[in-house]
Amino acid sequence: MEKQILVTGGVGYIGSHTVVELLESGFEVIIVDNLSNSNMNALDGIEEITGKRPLFEKLDVCNKSQLSSFFEKYSGIEAIIHFAAFKSVSESVANPLKYYHNNLTSTINLLYFMKKKDIPYMVFSSSCTVYGQPDELPVSEKAPVKKATSPYGNTKQVMEEIISDTLLSTPSLKAISLRYFNPIGAHPSALIGELPTGVPDNLIPFITQTAIGIHDELKVFGDDYNTPDGSAIRDYLHVVDLAKAHVVALQRLLKKQNKANYEIFNLGIGKGVSVLEAIESFERATGEKLNYKIVDRRAGDVEKVWGDTSYANKELGWKAEISLDDAMLSAWNWEKYLKKRKNINT
Ligand code: UD1
Repeated sequence: MEKQILVTGGVGYIGSHTVVELLESGFEVIIVDNLSNSNMNALDGIEEITGKRPLFEKLDVCNKSQLSSFFEKYSGIEAIIHFAAFKSVSESVANPLKYYHNNLTSTINLLYFMKKKDIPYMVFSSSCTVYGQPDELPVSEKAPVKKATSPYGNTKQVMEEIISDTLLSTPSLKAISLRYFNPIGAHPSALIGELPTGVPDNLIPFITQTAIGIHDELKVFGDDYNTPDGSAIRDYLHVVDLAKAHVVALQRLLKKQNKANYEIFNLGIGKGVSVLEAIESFERATGEKLNYKIVDRRAGDVEKVWGDTSYANKELGWKAEISLDDAMLSAWNWEKYLKKRKNINT
C-alpha cells in the first residue's frame, strides 16, 4: 500500500497550500482538521487546483480517543506535517489557557501516536516568534531562543522542546521544525488563501480588506521605531514558497538526508520590509490606493526581525522566489475572489 502523509490543520491557510504542493508532487494526503479556524471550501479549492480530493477526517487532534480511532483506521501513515494550532498573538494574551491546552495537547498526542504506531517522521510548523527581538539581524537558527513575548510564542517554543525531548528519548523518530517568518499571499489560482475569522490581526489581510471596503482605514502601528522609515520591519514570504519548503523537508526525512534526528530551518525571504514599504508594494502591484493612518505601537510587537535563510537555502536547496509585489497581487486577487463568492452566496 502507498505510504500516506497526514496533514493536521490541512484546510487552514498554510496547510491547504502545502496539501496542494504535496498532491502535485505525487504524495497521498490525509487531512485532519477540526475546522475551528478554517472551512471546507478550502478542500474544494484544493480539488479544483489539483484535480484530486484528499482524504479528510473532521477531528480534533486534542481528542486522544478520536485520534486513536483515526490511527486504527489509517495504518499506512509514514509522516505527519503538523499545522493544527491556534495562532493569534492577541487572543493568546487574552486567553492563555486556551492556547496552552490546544497547542501543547495536540502536539503531545501526535508524538504519543508516532511512538505507538511507528510513524517515524514529523515536519513541524514553528515560527520566528521564538526569537523575540533578536540581538543580531538577520537572525539565524543559532540565535538564542528568548523569553516569548506572548503565550502563543511560548507555545511554539515549548512545542519545539517537547518534540526535541521526545526525539532524544526515542531515536527512531525524526523531525524538522520550520521557523516561518511572515507568510503572506495566496495561491495564484486565487482558489485558496488566508481566511481570517472576524477582524484580522495580520497586516496583509487587513490591507486587502481595507482596499476592498470592509474597513475604512488601515492603522499602521507605530512610526517611531528605530528603523529607516520608523515603521516596524518583518520578513514577508509567499505562502506557496513556504508550502514548497514543507515538501522539501518531508523528502529530506523520507530520503534519510537529515543530518540529525531533529533539525531546525528558518524560512523567509531573508530581507526586511517595513510596514510602509509593504503598503507601497501593495499599491504598486494592484494600482489600488490605500487609506491608512499612523497610530500608536501595538503592544507586544517586536521592532524588527528578518531571517538569515542561508542554512535552508544551502541544506534544503530551497529559496523563496516570489516577489513581494507578486505576493501582494495574489493576496488582492484572493480578496476579490472572496467578495465574488460572498455575492454569489447571498
Ligand atoms: C506575529 C509573529 C508571527 C506569528 C504571527 C501570527 C512575531 C515577530 N511574529 O506576526 O511569528 O506567526 O504573529 O499571527 O512575533 N500591522 C499594522 N497594522 C495592522 C496589522 C499589523 O501596522 O493592522 C503591523 C504590525 O505592527 C507588524 C506588521 O504589521 O509590525 C506585521 O504584523 P502581523 O501581520 O500581525 O504579523 P506579526 O505580528 O509580525
